[in-house]
Amino acid sequence: MNILFMGPPGAGKGTQAERIVQEFGIPHISTGDAFRAAMREGTPIGLKAKEYMDKGLLVPDDVTVGIVRERLAAPDCEQGFLLDGFPRTLAQAEALDDILEAMGRKLDHVVNLHVDRELLLARLTGRRICKTCGATYHVIFNPPQQEGICDKDQGELYQRSDDSEEKVGTRLDEYINKTAPLLEYYSEKGLLRQVDGEKEIGTVSTEIVSLLRG
Ligand code: AP5
Ligand code: ZN
Repeated sequence: MNILFMGPPGAGKGTQAERIVQEFGIPHISTGDAFRAAMREGTPIGLKAKEYMDKGLLVPDDVTVGIVRERLAAPDCEQGFLLDGFPRTLAQAEALDDILEAMGRKLDHVVNLHVDRELLLARLTGRRICKTCGATYHVIFNPPQQEGICDKDQGELYQRSDDSEEKVGTRLDEYINKTAPLLEYYSEKGLLRQVDGEKEIGTVSTEIVSLLRG
């Protein structure tokens, strides 16, 4: 199954992706995670991405498309994949169509998580992530059993540098201007599946699983 997760920053794409990839046994491909890993390693792509991510802006299309093209060619994507946070511009969506066509594959579902702006702000500023395994928590909505410590592996939790109130505002504006128009693009192709992302985490997962199985 070849799936895309769309939705504004904080809609719950990463949280739901962690669950859905386990359910379907497919790899989770997050361009945001790939850029953060490249930044930690100090690679040229990481340094380039940092210039934009630090400001809450989208990384240029050529850099982003290159990463996805390479990742989709890996053997673990043969049974399917879940793309999270890509595409985010019309040029990226068209590039993805070309990449898949060249591989003789196509998208099965585009799942859009809808959440209102005020709630997105609360979700992002309260988000905490495990340094060791990348699991996502929220100080109020999804707290770990022990404050600041991951339930799964006792890793230390940290806050993303682009989750400050100021940067979240820029990220939401980028989403509205550049990414939201893609909903129309996928709707016209008959691939768009709308999900209410404001419900409780487990309820949202159940809805996504049932629409993907349906
Ligand atoms: P990226 O890492 O993709 O971030 P994002 O899209 O801004 O999405 P987030 O990770 O912030 O949100 P999410 O929807 O995954 O929410 P989460 O599940 O964590 O991108 C970062 C940057 O990289 C971009 O700004 C850009 O610079 C660059 N980039 C990446 N891809 C790019 C591309 N294709 N092109 C160009 N640039 C690109 O949930 C958020 C919080 O809410 C968590 O604390 C969670 O516990 C909580 N939560 C989740 N669901 C629920 C729920 N149902 N109820 C209550 N709380 C919930
Ligand atoms: Zn962990």
